[in-house]
Amino acid sequence: MLYGLAFAKDKVQEEIDRVIGVRQPVVEDRKNLPYTDAVIHETQRLASIAPISVPRKTTCDVHLNGYLIKKDTSIIPLLITVLRDENEWETPNTFNPGHFLNKQGQFVKKDAFMPFSAGRRVCLGEGLARMELFLFFASLLQVFRFTPPPGVSEDELDLTPSVGFTLNPSPHKLCAVKRS
Ligand code: HEM
Repeated sequence: MLYGLAFAKDKVQEEIDRVIGVRQPVVEDRKNLPYTDAVIHETQRLASIAPISVPRKTTCDVHLNGYLIKKDTSIIPLLITVLRDENEWETPNTFNPGHFLNKQGQFVKKDAFMPFSAGRRVCLGEGLARMELFLFFASLLQVFRFTPPPGVSEDELDLTPSVGFTLNPSPHKLCAVKRS
């Protein structure tokens, strides 16, 4: 999995260098950076930082997959079960930007990608969050090469999240080396 991350990082930088060069990335660049976009989506899918959505209550009897959920039942949507659904993703538990790319290397949207939830109460900040993720990620990788600290190999990095209401990255030391 970590090998996949290192490989993806190199490909993202190659794409950014080729498409943007040295100028500041802007939102409009996203459509011309399908691989970078796929890496961001795949990172959000696998990291699943909000694994549980906000509780709901049914307003009427609901029939779902052979089950009857009665009116006024409390429901806790588990977004992570969709983001890691083995019927939706080729390698649900492994980092794989190919989940969001077609054979021609173009970006493809997936209905099962719902880290911001879905429906009427979908995250209000989705547009802002997606814009920030793209601009920060592209800008940082354009300028820096990120590596583990000296003496630590990529295989030794532990991606196990620290668990709370959200899944957060565990504290890590890393080096940001300016690219020439
Ligand atoms: C990667 C970043 C983010 C993720 C993964 C995320 C995820 C979520 C999720 C899963 C919900 C629950 C939706 C539901 O009830 O079904 C939510 C709700 C919400 N989020 Fe975000 N969010 C992010 C960033 C933001 C930002 C940057 C803002 C504001 C600027 C924001 C504002 C809100 C608000 C106001 C709600 C409540 C919407 C409502 O109940 O109608 N979020 N978010």
